[in-house]
Amino acid sequence: MTEKMTACVTGAAGYMASWLVKRLLEKGYAVNATVRNPDNVEKVSHLLALLGAKDRLKLFRADLLADSSYDAAIDGCDVVFHTATPINFQSPNPEKDMIEPAIEGTLNVLKSCAKTKTVKRVILTSSGAAVSINKNQEMGQVMDETCWTETDFLFSEKPPTWGYPASKALAEKAAWEFAKENNVNLYAIIPVLMAGRSLTPEVPSSVQLAMAPLTGNEFLMMGQKGMQMLSGSISLVHVDDVCSAQIFLAEKESVAPERYICCPINTSVVELATFLSKKYPQFKVPTDFGDFPTKARLVISSKKLVGAGFNFKYGIEEIYDESIEYFRSVGLLAK
Ligand SMILES: NC(=O)c1ccc[n+]([C@@H]2O[C@H](COP(=O)([O-])OP(=O)(O)OC[C@H]3O[C@@H](n4cnc5c(N)ncnc54)[C@H](OP(=O)(O)O)[C@@H]3O)[C@@H](O)[C@H]2O)c1
Repeated sequence: MTEKMTACVTGAAGYMASWLVKRLLEKGYAVNATVRNPDNVEKVSHLLALLGAKDRLKLFRADLLADSSYDAAIDGCDVVFHTATPINFQSPNPEKDMIEPAIEGTLNVLKSCAKTKTVKRVILTSSGAAVSINKNQEMGQVMDETCWTETDFLFSEKPPTWGYPASKALAEKAAWEFAKENNVNLYAIIPVLMAGRSLTPEVPSSVQLAMAPLTGNEFLMMGQKGMQMLSGSISLVHVDDVCSAQIFLAEKESVAPERYICCPINTSVVELATFLSKKYPQFKVPTDFGDFPTKARLVISSKKLVGAGFNFKYGIEEIYDESIEYFRSVGLLAK
């Protein structure tokens, strides 16, 4: 059935999206891929090189902030995967640079979906950062799809990188509101920190963050600690599993249009470092973190996705085996 399906993928040149385009082309989909600048050969050549791209991939120019920008790419599609999001952790003005464009851009994409009669399902990529952040996290608390990050807390306390979780939570909330009012069949996939191989010319920041214990990048180790303190855990998923889960939501008839957390692994900075130092002794991963909390406070649960029939393919060993191989291939780890 999927052989005749057309999918739009927004932000298609990105880490997760380019892997999704690859998977969709392999499944026989025709893919309308949106990028900000299709003429930027450096940023799109990994898409054009994909198997099947010559016959079934079309690039479209679209920007989250331009009204009706996604109309042409979405018109005629059966399914839309909205992954594009403004990410700028260095911004002095996260409201302007991340939060407003994430909300406005998501609504722009959904407006284009509502305009055409062909789109049967929209899969929005949200984030674990839209679920788990709240100031009263309790030890052992299980976070499921009923949980939302407390954006009031983020706006008042402004912890480091606060603009990103705020942008994801508010964009997802705006999407649900719009979908309800305009009869858009919306599904939200909620992945946690993604790792695994990338097709992009640049090494994605999320893989660099996940790999920090092995590369010894001190700044990113601080980032991991900050993540555990703010989000309650170090939660990991393989990019290929996230793409499989999105395709599952797009294709499985019996799945309800709701939120689905995509998180097979919950751990902590200390537990992860201990695991990595044992499994890969050659990298001499430090495991002494002083009085930093050894355990994650929260468990981000994928019970609902698994209950719907989805199976994760990659555990922590596969995620790191492959990410190490990838880092070796791009020269970020010694061979
Ligand atoms: N990576 C993770 O660990 C992780 C975890 C949870 C959720 N997510 C979510 O997964 C999705 C993909 O993440 P990723 O890590 O693959 O990100 P990425 O590689 O940074 O890709 C983001 C994409 O968004 C596009 N974009 C940014 N601003 C835009 C704008 N104004 N107009 C149009 N496009 C714009 C970028 O386009 P250009 O190519 O034109 O720059 C880029 O292709 C995002 O929604 C992210 O929040 C990621």
